[in-house]
Amino acid sequence: MTDSTTMYENLRSQFTAKFNKEPEYFVRAPGRVNLIGEHIDYCGYSVLPMAIEQDVVFTVTNNATSKILLTNTNSQYKDFECDINNLNIPKDDPQWYNYALCGIKGILEHIKKDNSTGFTCLVDGTIPPSAGLSSSSALVCCAALTTMYANKASLTKKDLADICAHCEHYIGTEGGGMDQAISFMAKQGTAKLIEFNPLRSTDVEIPCEAVFVISNSCVQANKAATSSFNIRVVECRLATQIMAKSKGLEWREVKKLADLQLKLKLSLEQMLDLVQQTFHKEPYTKTEICELLGVTNEELATTSLSQNTLDVEVFKLYDRASHVYSEANRVLQFKMLCDGLLQDKTISKLGELMNTSHNSCRDLYECSHPELDNLVEICRKSGAVGSRLTGAGWGGCAVSMVKAGDAVSFLAKVRDQYYKPHEDRAQKILTSLFASEPGPGAAIYTL
Ligand code: GLA
Repeated sequence: MTDSTTMYENLRSQFTAKFNKEPEYFVRAPGRVNLIGEHIDYCGYSVLPMAIEQDVVFTVTNNATSKILLTNTNSQYKDFECDINNLNIPKDDPQWYNYALCGIKGILEHIKKDNSTGFTCLVDGTIPPSAGLSSSSALVCCAALTTMYANKASLTKKDLADICAHCEHYIGTEGGGMDQAISFMAKQGTAKLIEFNPLRSTDVEIPCEAVFVISNSCVQANKAATSSFNIRVVECRLATQIMAKSKGLEWREVKKLADLQLKLKLSLEQMLDLVQQTFHKEPYTKTEICELLGVTNEELATTSLSQNTLDVEVFKLYDRASHVYSEANRVLQFKMLCDGLLQDKTISKLGELMNTSHNSCRDLYECSHPELDNLVEICRKSGAVGSRLTGAGWGGCAVSMVKAGDAVSFLAKVRDQYYKPHEDRAQKILTSLFASEPGPGAAIYTL
C-alpha cells in the first residue's frame, strides 16, 4: 500500500467517523514552487513554476440541499457552514474557508445554474501555510473543482484556471494567474512555462542533473493580511499608465506592463530603456502622479488604485518596472537554456539567473525578508548552483537548484546552519527542508 493510499484511507475513516456516512469522492489540488518569474504574472508576463507533491485534499459527499459544510482535519481551522446561494466573502479577511468560498462562487457565477447542490467536506492540507507555496490558491482550486463536480458541470483545465485566478480576487489580493494555472495544468515530471492572455502552458525540461530543494525561512507571510502585495500591483499599473501617457497612448486602457510593451512593439531591453528615460529613481508622491496623469486624487482611485491602497502616499515606479522587465527577460532565458537554444547550456547559467532574480526581488521589488535573504545566502554557500525566494515573498520559502550529486551534503549544511541552531525551526525541519520533483495537477477521485 502506498503512502497516498494510506492517506486517503485515513481521510475516509475520519470523514465517516465525523459525519456518520461514507464520502463519495476526493478532490485534490497541488501547491507549487515557482522556479523563476516572480511578481510578473499580474503584469502579463510568463512564469516558470512546477507543481509540488504537497496538496489540499477535499473528502466530500454532495448534499441533497444547498448547504455547504466545510470542516478541517486541523482543529486550528474552525468549521464553517453556509448556504451555497448566499455566499459572503469579506475582503481582506484571510480566514481559511473564505478561500474555499472564492472557488465556489467563481464556479457558480460561471455555470449560472439554479438550485445549486451543496456539499459536506473534510479538508486536509500538507502545504505549509503562508510559505509562498500557494496553499491558498490550492484551496480555491480544490473548492472550485468540487463545486463543478457536485453540480455536474464540465469545464476545461484552462477554464478552471482562468475562473480561479479571477475569483481569488474576491479575497482582496490582486494576484496574477500563475498559482491556479499550474495547480490545474501541471504534469508529473515537468516544470511548465505558463503564458497569459491567452493562458497556455508548455513543458519545460529541466536538465536531469539538477534537483530543486525547497527550504522554508519559517517567517510566515500572508499576502492577504497586509497591503504590500497590492501596493506592488498598483505601482506596476501606475508605471504602465505614466509610460503609456508619455507615449501618447490612451493610458486609462493600459493596465499591465506587458500590454504596454505589445502596444509599443518594443523589446524587453527597449522597455528597460524607456523606464530609465521616463522615471526618476526616487519614490513618487501621489500628488506628483496625479499631475503626471492629469487626474484628481478621486479619479486616480478609480483609474489605478485598489481598495487597500487608497491611502498609500508614496510609490516606487523606477525600481518596480525595472524588476518586472528584467525578470520577464530572465524567464525567457531560463526557458531557452532548458530547451538547449542558448549555447551555454549549463546548469550554472540557470543558477545565475535564479540568483539575479532573487537579488532583483530583494533590492528592486523589496519583497524579501532579512531571514529569507540569510537563508538564500546559506543555500548558496552550501553548494546551491542558484537560490532565490519563491512565491510572493516577505517571508516564506527559498527554492535552490542543486546538482543531484551534491544534494545530500547541501541538505545537511542548510539543516546545520539555518534550522539546528533555532529550536522552533529545528522542530519543523521535516516539513521545512525537502527536495521536490514536478508533481501532477488537480484531480477528482470517485469512490
Ligand atoms: C502570489 C500570487 C501569484 C504571483 C506570486 C508572485 O503567489 O498569487 O499570482 O503574483 O505571488 O510571483
